[in-house]
Amino acid sequence: MCGIIGYIGYRIALPILLEGLRDQEYRGYDSAGIATWEDGKIDLIRSKGKIADLEKKIGDKKSNATLGIGHTRWATHGRPDDTNAHPHLDCKKELAVVHNGVIENYLELRSDLTAKGHVFTSQTDTEVLPHLIEEYYDQGGDLLNAVYHATEDVDGYYAMAVLSAKDPNRLICARLDNPLIIGIGDGEYFLASDMAALVEYTHQMLILENGDIADITPQGVTVYNKGQKVERKISVIDWDKASAQKGGYEHFMLKEIHEQPWALTQTLNGRISDDGQEIIFKEFDATIKDRLAKIDNIFLVACGTAYHAGLVGRHAIEKLLHLPTQTEVASEFQNRDAIITPRTLAIIISQSGETYDTILAMRKCQQMGAFTLAICNVLDSTIAREADAVLYTYAGPEIAVASTKAYTTQLAVLYMLTFYLGKLMGKISDAELKELIAALAQMPQLAEETISELESKIFQISLGFAPWNDAFFVGRGIDSAVAMEGALKLKEISYIHAEAYAAGELKHGTIALITPDVPVIALCTQSELISKMISNIKELQARKAAVIGVTTRGNQEVEAVCKDTLYIPQTNELLAPILANLPLQMLAYYAAVVKETDVDQPRNLAKSVTVG
Ligand code: G6P
Repeated sequence: MCGIIGYIGYRIALPILLEGLRDQEYRGYDSAGIATWEDGKIDLIRSKGKIADLEKKIGDKKSNATLGIGHTRWATHGRPDDTNAHPHLDCKKELAVVHNGVIENYLELRSDLTAKGHVFTSQTDTEVLPHLIEEYYDQGGDLLNAVYHATEDVDGYYAMAVLSAKDPNRLICARLDNPLIIGIGDGEYFLASDMAALVEYTHQMLILENGDIADITPQGVTVYNKGQKVERKISVIDWDKASAQKGGYEHFMLKEIHEQPWALTQTLNGRISDDGQEIIFKEFDATIKDRLAKIDNIFLVACGTAYHAGLVGRHAIEKLLHLPTQTEVASEFQNRDAIITPRTLAIIISQSGETYDTILAMRKCQQMGAFTLAICNVLDSTIAREADAVLYTYAGPEIAVASTKAYTTQLAVLYMLTFYLGKLMGKISDAELKELIAALAQMPQLAEETISELESKIFQISLGFAPWNDAFFVGRGIDSAVAMEGALKLKEISYIHAEAYAAGELKHGTIALITPDVPVIALCTQSELISKMISNIKELQARKAAVIGVTTRGNQEVEAVCKDTLYIPQTNELLAPILANLPLQMLAYYAAVVKETDVDQPRNLAKSVTVG
């Protein structure tokens, strides 16, 4: 949520900053801005709208600056317009600040600073930062100290970058609960909220930790924490710019849908023993294994799509481990008095590893003594670092706001974890385990088959779908969890109002909303529930709904009651969600394409929600 970029070195900064903002536009896209340092002055340019609007405003303006910062915004405080766009300046226009996060005590700080004569020009919380830093800078004349003192006055969370007209070769940045990464070059440094913006220039990343303040000059980076100099390790990233580009696809989302077989392969790679008898997690040492073996209840905690992965995970865990298991929305979990003990396993699921509510929920679990295990896609992200253990999904960078390959690989890790715990706890027989693992190992190939077989049919279906304002998704058992993700996908990118219901609940209210031809997607992958689903579909048919069935090949009885039927390959039914979800992603994608919405950057949303 909001993207920061920064550059200090010997190249012209402006094109690097613009490119970095484009790479991070998925983080927020209602306004953007850039501040560069040149000849002792700060040059500021900001614009409402997307990066393209900022570029238009910049036009063919020449800049020789080799130091600068930029920002793409997702508005929290103050509407999206030119004056609320970052960077923000102090009164003398000698300090420029970009910021992600929320300054919770900004009203109090703003009134103190106003009383001291500072003049504010925006409605943002961020603007207190340059004025606060200005206060301290005027007292001591040192930018690093001024930023340090300002962070001490601030309540809330932030990633920020600061430059000063009086410091020609210096960029100061700080982070608390919002990501900020320094790309290490040779005589040059890059700063971003996401590595995807940096891989073009360097693969060496210094990931700042909470409370860190970094002093960056072309000669080097020095990191401080609580006033003390600290060493931070350099992570080496093994993917390149091409993985964060569209690669010939019209949208990132379509590319990411098609990458799922590959992402599944990457995620399963090295985690299945050669004889196919067990799951291997090199991430778990003897102490972790010992702790996991004693677990007696499980929470899966996450937001958005990751929450829906957690709902599927709960079904698998309950079925195979017979442990009390709950899946919780992270923002609500913080307000619950959930029963958490040292024998609780809290599985924290997050693609970005930076979702603020999920971070807070994880910390709550830790305070109550639970063992926290993160499932994350972003290396060394906050959740990955703070959790007691982490299992990465290897989906590669996910750029489209609507999550696809991250979800699918989260499911793969949840299944592997369930199988692993089943063996560890002696709850799954060797024969059953072998069968489940073999089915999971087939998923990359079956996902490929599902996508290639169904794509054109789904495009045709979506043509009739797009004019509708409402759609419903229904399923029973594990299918009801898949239905929820299908509805979310459709609403977030096509803006069709979509709701998911446990099919058995339909007649307790929702059936009142069924009108002739309204689309209903019915998931029917669980053989023991199919006859009940068919009864539900008949009830829908009687109200003339247009039912699209998603079922496993061979289930002709579903086709007999549906307007259209989408067949997925046969597999172990517990794993069917991995495949059943694929047509729903494609349906959402093509409905959005037909409606000509902004597929990769849907209105009001952001990929990484780093505010609570
Ligand atoms: C946002 C994104 C969703 C994502 C959710 C959780 O809402 O738009 O796609 O599922 O955040 O994000 P996380 O990074 O924690 O998985």
